[in-house]
Amino acid sequence: MESFNKPFLLVLFFLLNLFSNFSHAEKKTTYIVHVAKSEMPESFNHHTLWYESSLNSVSDSAQLIYTYDNAIHGFATRLTPEEASSLESQTGILAVLPEIKYELHTTRTPQFLGLDKSADLFPESSSSSDVIVGVLDTGVWPESKSFDDTGMGPVPATWKGECQIGTNFTTANCNRKLIGARFFSKGYEAMLGPIDETKESKSPRDDDGHGTHTATTATGSVVPGASLFGFASGTARGMATRSRVAAYKVCWLGGCFSSDILAAIEQAILDNVNVLSLSLGGGMSDYYRDSVAIGSFAAMEKGILISCSAGNAGPSSYSLSNVAPWITTVGAGTLDRDFPAEVIIGNGKNYSGVSLYRGNALPDTPLPFIYAGNASNSSSGNLCMMGTLTPEKVAGKIVLCDRGVSARVQKGVVVKSAGGLGMVLANTPANGEELVADAHLLPATAVGEKEGDAIKKYLFSDSNPTVKIVFQGTKVGIQPSPVVAAFSSRGPNSITPQILKPDLIAPGVNILAGWSKNVGPTGLASDNRRVDFNIISGTSMSCPHVSGLAALIKSAHPDWSPAAVRSALMTTAYTAYKNGLSLRDSATGKQSTPFDHGAGHVDPVSAVNPGLVYDLTVDDYLNFLCALNYSTAQITTLSRRKFECEPSKKYSVNDLNYPSFAVLFQTTGGANIVKHTRVLTNVGTAGVYKSSVTSDSPLVKISIEPQVLSFKENEKKSYTVTFTSTAGATSQSVNGFARLEWSDGKNVVGSPISISWD
Ligand SMILES: *[C@@H]1O[C@H](CO)[C@@H](O)[C@H](O)[C@H]1NC(C)=O
Ligand SMILES: *[C@@H]1O[C@H](CO)[C@@H](O)[C@H](O)[C@H]1NC(C)=O
Ligand SMILES: *[C@@H]1O[C@H](CO)[C@@H](O)[C@H](O)[C@H]1NC(C)=O
Ligand SMILES: *[C@@H]1O[C@H](CO)[C@@H](O)[C@H](O)[C@H]1NC(C)=O
Ligand SMILES: *[C@@H]1O[C@H](CO)[C@@H](O)[C@H](O)[C@H]1NC(C)=O
Repeated sequence: MESFNKPFLLVLFFLLNLFSNFSHAEKKTTYIVHVAKSEMPESFNHHTLWYESSLNSVSDSAQLIYTYDNAIHGFATRLTPEEASSLESQTGILAVLPEIKYELHTTRTPQFLGLDKSADLFPESSSSSDVIVGVLDTGVWPESKSFDDTGMGPVPATWKGECQIGTNFTTANCNRKLIGARFFSKGYEAMLGPIDETKESKSPRDDDGHGTHTATTATGSVVPGASLFGFASGTARGMATRSRVAAYKVCWLGGCFSSDILAAIEQAILDNVNVLSLSLGGGMSDYYRDSVAIGSFAAMEKGILISCSAGNAGPSSYSLSNVAPWITTVGAGTLDRDFPAEVIIGNGKNYSGVSLYRGNALPDTPLPFIYAGNASNSSSGNLCMMGTLTPEKVAGKIVLCDRGVSARVQKGVVVKSAGGLGMVLANTPANGEELVADAHLLPATAVGEKEGDAIKKYLFSDSNPTVKIVFQGTKVGIQPSPVVAAFSSRGPNSITPQILKPDLIAPGVNILAGWSKNVGPTGLASDNRRVDFNIISGTSMSCPHVSGLAALIKSAHPDWSPAAVRSALMTTAYTAYKNGLSLRDSATGKQSTPFDHGAGHVDPVSAVNPGLVYDLTVDDYLNFLCALNYSTAQITTLSRRKFECEPSKKYSVNDLNYPSFAVLFQTTGGANIVKHTRVLTNVGTAGVYKSSVTSDSPLVKISIEPQVLSFKENEKKSYTVTFTSTAGATSQSVNGFARLEWSDGKNVVGSPISISWD
């Protein structure tokens, strides 16, 4: 370390101190203020006046950034921490929550889901085109052919939204498919300063691609001849091709801020969307502190189904986001489609990999090959991070880089700029055998952990290693599929372990959908290529599949609640392949569990006629909050109403009428019997349903009472499941899994069960 003389250090110390004191006193940040509107003093004739007066009492300069009246009761403003805590102590103020940054959870899908064969199951005419999906994301590229509105009828009369004018965006950019587009940047600008319009459009226009991809996945029109550089070529179509879509841009280059997300949910409620799709998440705070959970509660009350991505933090346990029970939480699985690009090493052995590289081919001869960890002075050189490769060592060679930390496509750029000719990207234990294909900027392929280890063994033992990469285009019919993506976030649910999450999985690996023309397919600044469609992966991609499918179910059953639609999607999801074997997890190569796949993989064709549903009302969710022992202020923050739990009533989290079961035994001192009660509603024809249970847990006895339920049309019947642990109070028991099914011989209404010990 360099040495400084003492006086200089003292001055520096003094300056730093001065600066930090100064900034401490002045440092404002954005807060979202939740109020109990019922406590508004009568002297105010509008809530905004009350908000301004409360604000003025703690700060001379604070302005309202947003006022909210639908997603929450309250406002967003900038305060110092002292001002915030003084505001929080005032009567009628429920909570003052700091702004939180959320992040994005970054054309064979319809066939894979069986939608191509069953178009007649879904109403052709008006009802499906009356369903509106709102997408909170990075905006839209309205010129995408997936927003073509040819043949669509007039915009539904229920629609109250608009097409907001801004940079490079006019009302002419909306049509009968993309019926609305808005942007929400006040919270973003309050935190990070004015938007730099040379870098991003201050309008609903998508400069990132992600929002166009998710919106077109949910509702994109049919586009023949779609592909990315010829990969995955075929007809691109969203899940609900006749539904309408509205874009709410809340994510910017610097992230997505909670005050903007709440403003967008507020507006989407007023605009009358039927489904909200959010492929983003942030933190794992309790429901009353999480703006997505809070805003979703209000949307749910209005009959809007909210579908959210589960997160890409898998395969670690407890890695889920968006777990509130009024949210549909979607994990990701693979398709039966792949983009093989094989690695053939000097000894003749070959290893399968995947790639979306399309460009100048490599010479057909074997090329010199080197491990990045042997071509760098950095201790993490194996990761091919910016500036870590030694050009003399990689020039003219193919470089093997380990996956992790930096973006996969970025590693290729690093290899290329150091003079490398190509890249083999090897998984580490964090990703196992999961392969995600990328549109690399240099010839490159991605291989699994086992393949990577074998290739490295060769690299370390051969004095003159060589390699060839053979690109093979698109291959379909890959088995087994789906498998749970390694990146897909996993349970158990860290906030309410008695609610099983994720709810289900849907396609989220190598998904082709519309893209923005302001950015290349890799999203890198150095990528000058422009494409109409891109292939990307993430629970960000699986979420809009479920949003679009929910729109289809909603169009077939316009009177169903969001909980009934979700129940239909969950109880008909499948957990086994056609050959009877159980779904697999690409992280382990083994059978996946309900903590990985929830109720299973979505099966929209069965979901249209589920037979029975587990329905839920707003009161059920309020009782659930009582069961969580939430305070009145916490419940009011979420529900915007004066609601007191009854002291004499016994509330149980186990009785939330959820389509799945997460059974939690206490290891010490707890009861060895846990009961869950459920109510089934018949949405099909009259019939007699019999229950059956399969279980892999010898430690727990499961019994159903009654075992047979006879339903008239529209009838509701309840039953209780009793779980009895024979494991004893001190057991260090391992998780167990089971499945409960009700069947009338036609419909199978399945529920996953997880059993764990606290
Ligand atoms: C504006 O939109 C057009 C498409 O209409 C697009 O080609 C152009 O790149 C956009 N410009 C900016 C600065 O976003
Ligand atoms: C890789 O090996 C398999 C058999 O081991 C062979 O079928 C396949 O054609 C090989 N691929 C290439 C590109 O040589
Ligand atoms: C290359 O790296 C591996 C793993 O770090 C190491 O075992 C090997 O000795 C290195 N080879 C050379 C030639 O430095
Ligand atoms: C690594 O060290 C070697 C020898 O000191 C040097 O020539 C080379 O430039 C260094 N590489 C990097 C990336 O700093
Ligand atoms: C709520 O409080 C009751 C009574 O203290 C307790 O039995 C129960 O376990 C608590 N529930 C939760 C979810 O913490």
